[in-house]
Amino acid sequence: MAPVRIAPSILSADFTRLADAIGTVSSAADLLHVDVMDGRFVPNITLGPLIVEAVRRTTDLPIDVHMMIVEPDRYVADFRKAGADMISVHVEACPHLQRTIEQIRETGALAGVAINPATPVEMLIDILPDVDYVLVMSVNPGFGGQTFWPRAVDKIRRLAALRGERERPLIEVDGGINQATAASVIEAGADILVAGSFVFGAENPSAQIEILRQAVAP
Ligand code: DX5
Ligand code: ZN
Repeated sequence: MAPVRIAPSILSADFTRLADAIGTVSSAADLLHVDVMDGRFVPNITLGPLIVEAVRRTTDLPIDVHMMIVEPDRYVADFRKAGADMISVHVEACPHLQRTIEQIRETGALAGVAINPATPVEMLIDILPDVDYVLVMSVNPGFGGQTFWPRAVDKIRRLAALRGERERPLIEVDGGINQATAASVIEAGADILVAGSFVFGAENPSAQIEILRQAVAP
């Protein structure tokens, strides 16, 4: 089994000192998770390609852009150009998901599909062969610091069963991850952990990443 990858979410970082915050995790993290929100798909507004481009200049970590916006097709190329290595879109926001996934792939980024808590993983059966990863939301998207939704564990288990013996898609989990919830989602089959407040809400973010690694060590 491949080692677990940890993706701190900059949503909980101090944006007045973003480069410093990213610096505190750059040697401990595997990816950097960037949450894009539009105030329409989710009830919060965050950032766009301008910030991703600035983040790109501060780190060599792969940038994992999570698009929580309506009509994401309109901005895929912009985020790729700004430096995204992985781009996920929500199934709930994409009536022509296969086309949107194809569009992401054509930019050269890894293509992911994200699903809200109320959306069954079975909705993804026909797109699974086309995606590099599935982002399972374990909170309703929009804000950092929310409580983990425990039934996400069963969804991850069902998704891992749908994947079967194949290596792809990878399973990424986002929302309410801490040392206790991390262990349960990894046990269920997750490969990538997103953690915002658990990492950046503490004095020493890289030590928090180590705590997560210890919590999921086999
Ligand atoms: C929520 C975002 C998450 C958020 C996670 O809509 O997609 O990536 O940053 O934050 P925590 O880890 O604090 O739940
Ligand atoms: Zn996210």
